[in-house]
Amino acid sequence: MSRTVLITGATGSVSSALLDALDGSALALRALVRDRSRAGALERRGVEVVVGDLGDPSTLPPAFKGVNDVWLLTAMDPRAPENSMNAVWAARQAGVERVVRLSAIGAAHDAPTRNGRLHALSDHELQASGLRWTILRPHAFMQNLLWQAGRIAHDGTFSLNMAQGRLGMIDLRDVADVAAHILRAEPERHHGKIYTPSGPETLSYAEAAEQLGQVLGRTIHYVAADAEDAHAGMVAGGIPHWLAGMFVEYGQALGSGFGDFTTTDVEDVVGRPPRRFADFARDHVAAFAA
Ligand SMILES: NC(=O)c1ccc[n+]([C@@H]2O[C@H](COP(=O)([O-])OP(=O)(O)OC[C@H]3O[C@@H](n4cnc5c(N)ncnc54)[C@H](OP(=O)(O)O)[C@@H]3O)[C@@H](O)[C@H]2O)c1
Repeated sequence: MSRTVLITGATGSVSSALLDALDGSALALRALVRDRSRAGALERRGVEVVVGDLGDPSTLPPAFKGVNDVWLLTAMDPRAPENSMNAVWAARQAGVERVVRLSAIGAAHDAPTRNGRLHALSDHELQASGLRWTILRPHAFMQNLLWQAGRIAHDGTFSLNMAQGRLGMIDLRDVADVAAHILRAEPERHHGKIYTPSGPETLSYAEAAEQLGQVLGRTIHYVAADAEDAHAGMVAGGIPHWLAGMFVEYGQALGSGFGDFTTTDVEDVVGRPPRRFADFARDHVAAFAA
């Protein structure tokens, strides 16, 4: 009998890519959504849709019933540890065998960002849960640049408070491919492992701008902002205050060398090298085009 996998965060970026990566697999896919009206695309691709909210444990038992494996993704939010806790508890109650959890780069109790410290709480809870577990702590996503795609299209600039920090940033489709390989493998295979998937090279955002410009055929400039301006710009662009503050913390950490590394984890798990920034740029030309 095929294993049933519950995909959380199913309307979001990483889990959508994971569903793509699991297309055609023998796994029975079930997606947890908060709002069924947003699940049309999931239903059209043949995924079973269940409604539930990780913030409300009373909604979770039907979603977790009969599930073998959970892909556990929590949105960046101060309540993420509570949401993760509710999912792990529901998994234990339902007899789930394995949880594969999306954490973040450098998650630790002394991480320089609130997101990293919040993820550490949930990582450690899962590790102590008695369930089989695998944790992914990916590097910063190349797709973060899409948040400024409109500005890049408009005036050829983007702005971050990352100074000239170098990052082993990763295409989130490679994070999804790593997760898909793990979920397809038997539960023992990756149990107890923490992976830190990264891209194949470290780049500064000035270098990323140059590569993006080459693909787009026009000059793109990276503007190194200070923390205050970066925060004000994000809030003006509609990003909630908490998230903007947290992104500024990442900017400061990454600008100071926190992300200046690569790993071989994508190739080790998937068996091919990760996508380069230039691949990401070519695949997203339409989003950045003027
Ligand atoms: N961006 C990066 O560079 C980076 C790097 C490493 C790790 N990460 C990690 O990646 C994760 C974010 O992934 P993403 O970019 O795919 O997120 P995303 O696109 O923002 O999607 C978040 C998903 O979570 C769902 N969700 C939010 N609150 C929920 C709740 N209470 N109950 C059930 N579902 C809920 C949303 O559903 P709705 O449709 O209902 O809103 C949506 O499907 C975070 O944990 C972050 O730390 C990010």
